Amino acid sequence: MFPVVFMELICAGVAPGKAAVMQICGDNNRCHVLHIIHSGIPKNLQCLLEDPSSMKVGVCIANDATKVLQDHNVSINSLGELSDLANQKLGGDLKKWSLSTLTEMIICKQLPKPNKIRLGNWEVEVLSKEQLNYAATDAYVSWYLYQVF
Ligand SMILES: *[C@@H]1O[C@H](CO)[C@@H](O)[C@H](O)[C@H]1NC(C)=O
Repeated sequence: MFPVVFMELICAGVAPGKAAVMQICGDNNRCHVLHIIHSGIPKNLQCLLEDPSSMKVGVCIANDATKVLQDHNVSINSLGELSDLANQKLGGDLKKWSLSTLTEMIICKQLPKPNKIRLGNWEVEVLSKEQLNYAATDAYVSWYLYQVF
Protein backbone atom coordinates (compact mmCIF):
# COMPACT_ATOMS: atom_id res chain seq x y z
CA MET A 1 0.00 0.00 0.00
CA PHE A 2 1.17 3.54 -0.70
CA PRO A 3 1.64 5.76 2.36
CA VAL A 4 0.37 8.78 0.44
CA VAL A 5 -1.71 8.90 -2.70
CA PHE A 6 -2.92 11.93 -4.56
CA MET A 7 -6.47 11.89 -5.55
CA GLU A 8 -8.51 14.09 -7.80
CA LEU A 9 -11.97 13.64 -9.07
CA ILE A 10 -13.55 14.87 -12.25
CA CYS A 11 -17.29 15.07 -12.29
CA ALA A 12 -19.40 14.53 -15.36
CA GLY A 13 -21.06 17.72 -16.49
CA VAL A 14 -21.78 20.64 -14.23
CA ALA A 15 -22.28 19.96 -10.52
CA PRO A 16 -24.01 17.90 -9.24
CA GLY A 17 -22.74 15.55 -11.95
CA LYS A 18 -21.73 12.09 -10.94
CA ALA A 19 -18.08 11.43 -10.19
CA ALA A 20 -16.77 10.25 -13.55
CA VAL A 21 -13.03 9.96 -13.27
CA MET A 22 -10.69 9.38 -10.37
CA GLN A 23 -6.98 9.97 -10.67
CA ILE A 24 -4.52 8.37 -8.33
CA CYS A 25 -0.83 9.12 -8.23
CA GLY A 26 1.33 7.12 -5.83
CA ASP A 27 4.82 7.80 -7.08
CA ASN A 28 6.85 9.64 -9.65
CA ASN A 29 6.41 7.04 -12.36
CA ARG A 30 2.77 6.79 -13.10
CA CYS A 31 -0.66 8.16 -12.43
CA HIS A 32 -3.76 6.07 -12.72
CA VAL A 33 -6.80 7.53 -14.41
CA LEU A 34 -9.84 5.49 -13.51
CA HIS A 35 -13.08 5.84 -15.40
CA ILE A 36 -15.16 5.03 -12.35
CA ILE A 37 -18.44 6.11 -13.87
CA HIS A 38 -18.27 2.97 -16.01
CA SER A 39 -16.04 0.67 -13.99
CA GLY A 40 -17.33 1.50 -10.53
CA ILE A 41 -14.74 1.33 -7.77
CA PRO A 42 -12.98 -2.02 -7.83
CA LYS A 43 -12.46 -3.80 -4.54
CA ASN A 44 -8.71 -3.20 -4.34
CA LEU A 45 -9.16 0.52 -4.95
CA GLN A 46 -11.88 0.58 -2.32
CA CYS A 47 -9.47 -1.01 0.16
CA LEU A 48 -6.86 1.63 -0.58
CA LEU A 49 -9.39 4.45 -0.20
CA GLU A 50 -10.73 3.07 3.08
CA ASP A 51 -7.31 2.22 4.51
CA PRO A 52 -6.58 4.80 7.24
CA SER A 53 -2.83 4.14 7.05
CA SER A 54 -2.55 5.65 3.58
CA MET A 55 -3.18 9.38 3.29
CA LYS A 56 -5.23 10.73 0.40
CA VAL A 57 -4.08 14.19 -0.51
CA GLY A 58 -5.54 16.73 -2.89
CA VAL A 59 -7.13 20.15 -3.24
CA CYS A 60 -10.72 20.22 -1.94
CA ILE A 61 -10.27 16.58 -1.10
CA ALA A 62 -13.16 16.61 1.38
CA ASN A 63 -15.59 17.51 -1.42
CA ASP A 64 -14.25 14.67 -3.50
CA ALA A 65 -14.62 12.27 -0.60
CA THR A 66 -18.24 13.33 -0.07
CA LYS A 67 -18.93 12.78 -3.74
CA VAL A 68 -17.42 9.31 -3.73
CA LEU A 69 -19.50 8.40 -0.70
CA GLN A 70 -22.68 9.68 -2.36
CA ASP A 71 -22.06 8.15 -5.76
CA HIS A 72 -20.21 4.96 -4.85
CA ASN A 73 -20.87 4.32 -1.17
CA VAL A 74 -17.15 4.23 -0.44
CA SER A 75 -15.92 6.10 2.60
CA ILE A 76 -12.43 7.55 2.15
CA ASN A 77 -10.26 7.64 5.25
CA SER A 78 -7.27 9.86 6.10
CA LEU A 79 -7.74 12.98 4.04
CA GLY A 80 -4.98 15.55 3.62
CA GLU A 81 -5.87 18.99 2.28
CA LEU A 82 -3.11 20.41 0.10
CA SER A 83 -4.53 23.93 0.51
CA ASP A 84 -4.17 23.72 4.31
CA LEU A 85 -0.68 22.33 3.98
CA ALA A 86 0.22 25.23 1.70
CA ASN A 87 -1.07 27.75 4.24
CA GLN A 88 0.95 26.09 7.00
CA LYS A 89 4.13 26.12 4.95
CA LEU A 90 3.75 29.56 3.45
CA GLY A 91 2.58 31.39 6.55
CA GLY A 92 0.89 34.75 6.11
CA ASP A 93 -2.79 35.09 5.34
CA LEU A 94 -4.81 31.93 5.05
CA LYS A 95 -5.86 31.45 1.46
CA LYS A 96 -8.16 29.09 -0.29
CA TRP A 97 -5.81 27.67 -2.89
CA SER A 98 -6.76 25.95 -6.07
CA LEU A 99 -4.43 23.57 -7.82
CA SER A 100 -3.77 26.23 -10.47
CA THR A 101 -2.99 29.06 -8.06
CA LEU A 102 -0.77 26.79 -5.99
CA THR A 103 1.13 25.66 -9.06
CA GLU A 104 1.77 29.24 -10.10
CA MET A 105 2.82 30.28 -6.62
CA ILE A 106 5.08 27.33 -5.86
CA ILE A 107 6.67 26.36 -9.14
CA CYS A 108 5.87 29.38 -11.31
CA LYS A 109 4.14 27.33 -13.94
CA GLN A 110 0.75 27.66 -15.52
CA LEU A 111 -1.58 24.73 -15.14
CA PRO A 112 -3.78 25.04 -18.18
CA LYS A 113 -7.42 24.17 -17.57
CA PRO A 114 -8.95 24.55 -21.01
CA ASN A 115 -12.73 24.66 -20.71
CA LYS A 116 -13.03 22.61 -23.88
CA ILE A 117 -11.56 19.66 -21.99
CA ARG A 118 -12.56 20.52 -18.43
CA LEU A 119 -16.21 20.91 -19.32
CA GLY A 120 -16.16 18.19 -21.95
CA ASN A 121 -17.99 14.92 -21.85
CA TRP A 122 -16.36 12.72 -19.22
CA GLU A 123 -19.01 10.03 -19.54
CA VAL A 124 -17.97 9.02 -23.06
CA GLU A 125 -17.20 5.36 -23.56
CA VAL A 126 -13.49 5.94 -24.15
CA LEU A 127 -11.62 9.00 -22.90
CA SER A 128 -9.56 10.90 -25.47
CA LYS A 129 -5.83 11.34 -25.21
CA GLU A 130 -6.39 14.97 -24.23
CA GLN A 131 -8.73 13.97 -21.44
CA LEU A 132 -6.31 11.36 -20.13
CA ASN A 133 -3.49 13.87 -20.25
CA TYR A 134 -5.50 16.50 -18.47
CA ALA A 135 -6.62 14.09 -15.77
CA ALA A 136 -3.19 12.58 -15.18
CA THR A 137 -1.53 15.99 -15.06
CA ASP A 138 -3.87 17.13 -12.29
CA ALA A 139 -2.92 14.21 -10.09
CA TYR A 140 0.76 14.46 -10.93
CA VAL A 141 0.85 18.17 -10.07
CA SER A 142 -0.71 17.46 -6.68
CA TRP A 143 1.91 14.82 -6.06
CA TYR A 144 4.70 17.14 -7.19
CA LEU A 145 3.58 20.08 -5.04
CA TYR A 146 3.44 17.82 -2.02
CA GLN A 147 7.07 16.80 -2.61
CA VAL A 148 8.05 20.45 -2.81
CA PHE A 149 6.38 21.10 0.55
C1 LIG B 1 -22.99 0.97 1.67
O1 LIG B 1 -21.94 0.23 2.23
C2 LIG B 1 -22.23 -0.37 3.50
C3 LIG B 1 -21.00 -1.12 3.96
O2 LIG B 1 -19.86 -0.36 3.84
C4 LIG B 1 -23.41 -1.29 3.38
O3 LIG B 1 -23.75 -1.79 4.65
C5 LIG B 1 -24.61 -0.55 2.77
O4 LIG B 1 -25.65 -1.47 2.55
C6 LIG B 1 -24.21 0.12 1.48
N1 LIG B 1 -25.32 0.93 0.97
C7 LIG B 1 -25.72 0.88 -0.28
C8 LIG B 1 -26.82 1.81 -0.64
O5 LIG B 1 -25.22 0.14 -1.10
